[in-house]
Amino acid sequence: MRRLLAKTGGADQMVTEFIRVNDTLLPPKIFHKLVPELESDYCGYGDIPLVVQLLGSDPESLANNALRALELGAPAIDMNFGCPAKTVNKSRGGSILLKEPEVVHDCVKAVRDAVPANIQVSAKMRLGYEDKSLAIENAQAIEAAGASYLTVHARTKVEGYKPPAHWEWIAKIKNSIDIPVIANGEVWNPDDYWRCREVSECDDVMIGRGWVANPFLARQIKDETFPRELEESWQLLKPYMLGFYNDVIAHIEERHVHGRIKQWLQMLSWHYPQAKILFDEIRTERNAQRVGDVLKARLGSV
Ligand SMILES: Cc1cc2nc3c(=O)[nH]c(=O)nc-3n(C[C@H](O)[C@H](O)[C@H](O)COP(=O)(O)O)c2cc1C
Repeated sequence: MRRLLAKTGGADQMVTEFIRVNDTLLPPKIFHKLVPELESDYCGYGDIPLVVQLLGSDPESLANNALRALELGAPAIDMNFGCPAKTVNKSRGGSILLKEPEVVHDCVKAVRDAVPANIQVSAKMRLGYEDKSLAIENAQAIEAAGASYLTVHARTKVEGYKPPAHWEWIAKIKNSIDIPVIANGEVWNPDDYWRCREVSECDDVMIGRGWVANPFLARQIKDETFPRELEESWQLLKPYMLGFYNDVIAHIEERHVHGRIKQWLQMLSWHYPQAKILFDEIRTERNAQRVGDVLKARLGSV
């Protein structure tokens, strides 16, 4: 998906999903499995660097693993204080740490102190765990620890992924610290992007699900002449979808192929009604080749 989205263009930077750090130094093979881009000369795509994200609560171990990520070619390190998953929170990772701003501080500081000064160390947080009472304190802790910038997903853990995202809270945070803040949450189209910038008072926005649902979103934001009309953009998307299928077939165990394709088609359906029709057509198909046959028939040959 990252390969595909990098090709559709428009982004300035991408971030990996988190690599979970416990109290050990992870072997290179774990980094390579989760971030295969590390194996090429440059971790990223053209002029889009791919920042490697770590998640954990052991400052020393986070620092050691950050150094390892850099040795392996990561251009910068981001730290996750937003993940809401139960299994992750149970082992003191992600959004649960927002209950303890001093731990958030110590994690960011340990990584900041360990890595060379020219390497950016950033953090991503939600507004809190149960409520927003520690939002500012956490942001200030991240700034005091020396983070280069902060990304804010404008919801608490308890709010999950339910709209709305509270962009006005990002402005509050931005006005209480001096490092750059990147706004995140519920940006599904270029209009959302501009409203998010206005309300959050941020110049930069991170997009997640909206970009997977509409792979041209970043491009449409950057270039307002890029087609937005659904049928025209669906036609443009077709070769990328076939490319995605070929990539999945090449890299993923055959029995999982149908699941990956369906998963993306479902997300595409949030934006493109055409994707829902295609999804319904392959919904009961589990054979990778036959899924490919339907895609090729509907989307044109590769
Ligand atoms: C399936 C899934 C996996 C995610 N994994 C990560 C992750 O590893 N690291 C992270 O910082 N955010 C992760 N997020 C959160 C998104 O980066 C983003 O903050 C959130 O979806 C809100 O932005 P959006 O409304 O643009 O999607 C994940 C979200 C989803 C739905």
